[in-house]
Amino acid sequence: MSKLLLALLLPVALLGAGALLSDWQAAARAGAQLLPVTFAHRDHDAVSCIACHHNYVDDTGQGLCFDCHKTDTSVNALVETQFHELCWGCHVSEQALGNDFGPTRRCIDCHEADDNP
Ligand code: HEC
Ligand code: HEC
Ligand code: HEC
Ligand code: HEC
Repeated sequence: MSKLLLALLLPVALLGAGALLSDWQAAARAGAQLLPVTFAHRDHDAVSCIACHHNYVDDTGQGLCFDCHKTDTSVNALVETQFHELCWGCHVSEQALGNDFGPTRRCIDCHEADDNP
């Protein structure tokens, strides 16, 4: 990730950790469905597994990212901030480097149409 992008994202991450993580938001997130997301490993062959699977590094995690990040009340209120930073952040920095990149503008390129109530 470029220094410029890190500099842009860091305040957002800090703001997220300080301001977004409240008990009522964590409780609401645990009970709500997440927006469906488009993700395919075959689009990410060039990316190291542990760039995304931090749970493989120390062997603490089992199961799907989105299950854990939806129900773990220490982080679930941050799911939007953290996954946008990971996924969207990489796409934007790859675009800036002139490489192949994933969606950087349209929400629906990552989020499928939301049919949830
Ligand atoms: C690069 C892919 C990507 C793009 C582009 C993107 N998102 Fe997300 N977004 C995600 C992922 C991954 C999550 C976390 C998993 C989930 O919520 O299903 C997420 C989570 C969220 C959440 C919070 C969790 C939830 O499900 O309610 C909201 C709200 C959201 N995105 C809205 C948007 C909006 C609005 C846009 C366009 C301005 C957008 N996103 C663009 C990937 C993306
Ligand atoms: C760009 C990010 C990214 C990369 C790189 C990546 N994965 Fe994943 N992986 C994900 C996401 C996101 C999910 C959850 C998909 C879902 O919920 O539909 C997932 C799910 C999985 C799962 C099923 C859930 C589990 O943990 O048991 C396996 C297995 C897996 N990945 C293995 C790998 C391996 C092996 C590599 C490297 C060769 C890899 N992944 C690279 C993001 C990534
Ligand atoms: C067993 C539960 C668990 C699983 C599975 C899990 N996470 Fe996490 N994740 C956490 C917790 C807890 C934190 C906050 C503490 C930390 O940073 O380790 C976190 C932090 C993060 C962060 C923000 C901090 C950082 O490292 O930048 C991102 C992004 C993230 N996870 C993405 C993912 C993705 C992508 C997957 C699946 C490929 C995944 N997580 C699987 C529990 C989990
Ligand atoms: C470290 C960089 C990186 C991360 C992290 C990453 N991506 Fe990507 N993504 C890419 C690249 C590069 C491509 C383009 C691959 C190609 O064109 O061959 C891509 C392609 C995609 C596409 C395909 C778009 C199309 O045109 O079909 C989607 C959807 C996508 N990413 C979603 C996600 C989501 C959701 C996450 C987070 C769970 C994520 N990406 C995390 C680098 C990344």
